Amino acid sequence: MHIYILTLFPQMFQSPLSAGIFKRAIDQKLVSVNIHNIRDYTHDKHHTVDDYAYGGGAGMILKPEPIFEAVESIKSSISLNQGGSMLPIILLTPQGRLFSQQIAYELSKYSHLILICGRYEGVDERVHRHLVTDEISIGDYVLSGGELAAMVVVDAVARLLPGVLGSEASLLDNSHVSGLLEYPQYTRPAVYRGWSVPEVLLSGNHAQIANWRREQAIQRTLERRPELLDKANLGLEEKRLVGRLKKSNLSREFVE
Ligand code: ADE
Repeated sequence: MHIYILTLFPQMFQSPLSAGIFKRAIDQKLVSVNIHNIRDYTHDKHHTVDDYAYGGGAGMILKPEPIFEAVESIKSSISLNQGGSMLPIILLTPQGRLFSQQIAYELSKYSHLILICGRYEGVDERVHRHLVTDEISIGDYVLSGGELAAMVVVDAVARLLPGVLGSEASLLDNSHVSGLLEYPQYTRPAVYRGWSVPEVLLSGNHAQIANWRREQAIQRTLERRPELLDKANLGLEEKRLVGRLKKSNLSREFVE
């Protein structure tokens, strides 16, 4: 996958891309990240990227021209090689659709992605209307720019690409992948400061362990993010378990 990031702060991307899984993925050429400075696509002496808002108001607005030109330049370089027809052009903005594991999956299917990091008080509306194909927010809070949001998206997408994680199985067990939060995990020692690892995990009985984990994942999701259970893919037995857990939680609250 080839990822292109348009930003006014290219230096922000240096350290996140130079460590861990991500660095390995880049070294192995499973993913490439190309950072483009929006300022490089200006033509005036001062390399102006922003201007006052028509109609007044505090704050500066990112101008449309350098953003359009940067995207068009990248697009033309892509179509030279392979189909740039299905090319998502994504603006990171608090006004976008809320990012999720599902969206990370959708994006991981593309061969190329363009991410545009907004800044200042906003981006000229013509970028929203006539350039981007998608707008993504990483949460209901305001960051000072789209850079950190772009890194979040790139990280969540890149780890889904074939070969990026050591084991494909580790993809399946994570929180949100199954629609549930992850079950509790333990490693050695079996007893630490008097706190023991649950017996079942030491039993070597794989069926029992799998059952326990599924129950724990459901219990944890019910306690922390109950709204996720409505969308999770639960079997009949598991739905019954949710019912039982809800009842026992209710009776516990009643006693307290
Ligand atoms: N830019 C500023 N805040 C943002 C957010 N929450 N998500 C994506 N881009 C942003």
